[in-house]
Amino acid sequence: MANDLLRGKKGIIFGALDPNSIAWKVAQRAHEEGAQFVLTNAPVALRMGAINELGEATNSEIIPADATNMEDLENLFTKSQEILGGKLDFVLHSIGMSPNVRKKRHYTDLNYDFYHKTLDISAMSFHRVLQTAMKLDAMNEWGSMLALTYIAAQRTFPDYNDMSDAKALLESITRTFGYQYGSAKKVRVNTISQSPTPTTAGTGVKGFNAFINYAEKMSPLGNASAADCADYCITMFSDLTKMVTMQNLFHDGGFSFTGVSQEVMERFED
Ligand SMILES: NC(=O)c1ccc[n+]([C@@H]2O[C@H](COP(=O)([O-])OP(=O)(O)OC[C@H]3O[C@@H](n4cnc5c(N)ncnc54)[C@H](O)[C@@H]3O)[C@@H](O)[C@H]2O)c1
Repeated sequence: MANDLLRGKKGIIFGALDPNSIAWKVAQRAHEEGAQFVLTNAPVALRMGAINELGEATNSEIIPADATNMEDLENLFTKSQEILGGKLDFVLHSIGMSPNVRKKRHYTDLNYDFYHKTLDISAMSFHRVLQTAMKLDAMNEWGSMLALTYIAAQRTFPDYNDMSDAKALLESITRTFGYQYGSAKKVRVNTISQSPTPTTAGTGVKGFNAFINYAEKMSPLGNASAADCADYCITMFSDLTKMVTMQNLFHDGGFSFTGVSQEVMERFED
């Protein structure tokens, strides 16, 4: 259902890899709500080609950018403003990757080059995006910049590995930069903490099936899907959430505030 919530708004969407990606659903919903945007992903991800289909369906141009490369980001923000004809109103950072998770390194046996990469790609990249946007004065007042995170930033989920540290840093950058950007330019910065979701990044986490099933049983509303997450992102880009900034917003069917559910309790009865 479209309500023209983003009519006239312009933005950049990072991280649509394939139709399962959360960013893919956000792009579809943003298009339905009347937004115009540029799609971007790392050059290596673009070579897979699926994003061209999304570009055609949403009438969007695609600009490659490695989110750890400042020149790529400057080029992205400059060209996006040229293509869209002005400053931007929203940015989605939907990026995560851990070489330690990929190579199955245990948290007590991390490779530190990999660890640097995890933090750079999954957290520092948001600082890079924010800093680039601010230096180029690329955002309109009341613009909304959003990143996706996971509750492993607050509570330990053993197999989430060094991504837990990356998410804690990502959420801290959101508060710290959010203060600066809000006071200087009235731009808002938030994270959405999403339920486990079956995507390429999600299913890369060891024991993902147990993870998602457990969360489903522990959430009074059940797990939030990628499409539900896209709906929430749209509200965060809209003027209806104008005074929300520096927040970590749980979008998880109630998981984050449930101590234990009846269903999980019953599994432990004698
Ligand atoms: N899937 C889940 O269970 C879940 C839960 C909570 C939060 N999240 C977060 O949602 C976000 C999106 O992930 P997803 O689940 O849609 O998976 P996904 O694999 O579809 O998306 C991850 C994206 O990051 C991109 N990326 C990796 N390295 C990059 C780089 N150097 N520069 C630019 N882009 C790069 C990938 O190409 C990919 O498009 C991530 O931040 C993830 O941690 C996912």
